This record gives sequence, structure tokens and C-alpha cells, in this order.
Amino acid sequence: MNVKDIKNAYKRYARVYDILFGVVLRPGRKQTARALEIQPGGRILEVGVGTGLSLAHYPADAKVTGIDISREMLLKARQRVAREGLGQVEVLLEMDAENMRFASASFDRVVAMYVVSVVPNPARLITEMRRVCRPAGEIFIVNHFRSRNPVLRFTEQLLSPLSRLAGFRTDLDLEHFLRVTGLEVIEVRRTNLFGYWRLLRCRNASKPTPLATPAAESCAETSPV
Ligand SMILES: C[S@@+](CC[C@H](N)C(=O)[O-])C[C@H]1O[C@@H](n2cnc3c(N)ncnc32)[C@H](O)[C@@H]1O
Repeated sequence: MNVKDIKNAYKRYARVYDILFGVVLRPGRKQTARALEIQPGGRILEVGVGTGLSLAHYPADAKVTGIDISREMLLKARQRVAREGLGQVEVLLEMDAENMRFASASFDRVVAMYVVSVVPNPARLITEMRRVCRPAGEIFIVNHFRSRNPVLRFTEQLLSPLSRLAGFRTDLDLEHFLRVTGLEVIEVRRTNLFGYWRLLRCRNASKPTPLATPAAESCAETSPV
């Protein structure tokens, strides 16, 4: 999907997103917020913050910035912040996570939950996430990646309509993704229904990779794993 298609898709989803994906994807959001281990006053950026379902899980003494490309999803997030009095949320901005307007090294933690397989160019997204994260800061990604295990693959196939409903690609290969992005993974945990999604905790290596080349754009390698 290109940016225009994504905006159109989430314009439609905004009204029903919480009903469809609120509870089912909640464990991944909670697990991620717990894993951040952020110091008081630490700066968190969540890209693709959507309707803000994760925001209440961040520590009250953190400083959270959220961005999303969909105005309608962000409106829901802003309503949630006001309704729930989420003082840790400093600002919610309409912005493309593949071309962020933040200065380099602005955040201690950068988070993308259920976003990598939605954006047009996952490698570019990661390059940008690394740029805005301070060196030795941490990057957290929750996403579905294709499994190697035939039994798990079968389960994944059963669940893939759920992913596609949210506009996710379901064929993202973890090893290829890590090779292309150069992410340094510290920890991988399975999360949500049957462990279908994975939480990657990554250290921000000091040297960012150059912006993704067209050849590196496709993270959905077709070779079997
Ligand atoms: C599947 S939703 C996930 C929302 C939220 N993270 C959650 O936990 O439910 C994907 C979100 O990514 C946003 N998105 C897609 N492409 C984006 C981009 N290039 N920049 C910023 N946000 C983007 C969509 O608008 C949508 O809100």
C-alpha cells in the first residue's frame, strides 16, 4: 500500500479499530510498555500510535510523543488522552514515520507496534527510527513475522485474515528484515494470540544505516525460511 491507500484505509478503520484490535493486541502493548525500563522524565516516541490504545500503559513520569499518518486515528488518540487524563503524553502529531521532522537522537526509546508491516518501506521506517533514537537508546517493535515452524506456520495461516483485515502484510521474514535494517536485537519474545506476534527489543547501534535503497525496500523476502 502507498501512503494515500494507508490514509484511506485508516480513515475507514478509525471508528471500529478499538473494537476489532483493542483487546486482541493488548498483551503486546502492555508487554512493550513494561519492557521499556524508562527512567523518570525519559522520552518515548511511538510511531503509528493509532487511536492511542498503548498510551495509558506508559509510565506516568515518562514524556511521550506519538505520531501517526492518519488524522482520523490521531483524533481518536487525542480524545483518549483528554478523556483519560494521560499527563505523560506531551504531544500527538500527524507525521510520516518514514520522514520524521524530529532532530536526530531526540528520544530514549522508539516504539512501533503493529506498524512495520503496514508502511510502504519498512527499511526506511527503521532507518528513521534509528536516527531519532539516541545512540545506545532502544527500539521496540511488535509485529508478525513468518514462522519457520510448519505447525506455527499453519496457525499463522489461520490467523492471517485478521492481519490482512488491519492492512498488515503477513509475509515479513524476520531474518531478512534484520539483515536489511541492521537492527541489533537484544531480545525476542512471542506475544498475543498463540504467540503469533513478536516483540523485538533492539539496541540502537551508534552508526545508523544509510537510508534504505530501492533494493532494500522489500522486507518480504520470498525465499523459504
Ligand atoms: C495497525 S495500526 C497500529 C496502531 C497502534 N500502534 C496499535 O497498537 O493499535 C497501524 C497504524 O500505523 C499508522 N501508519 C501507517 N503508516 C504510517 C506512516 N508511514 N507513518 C506514521 N504512521 C503510519 C496507521 O495510520 C495506523 O494508525
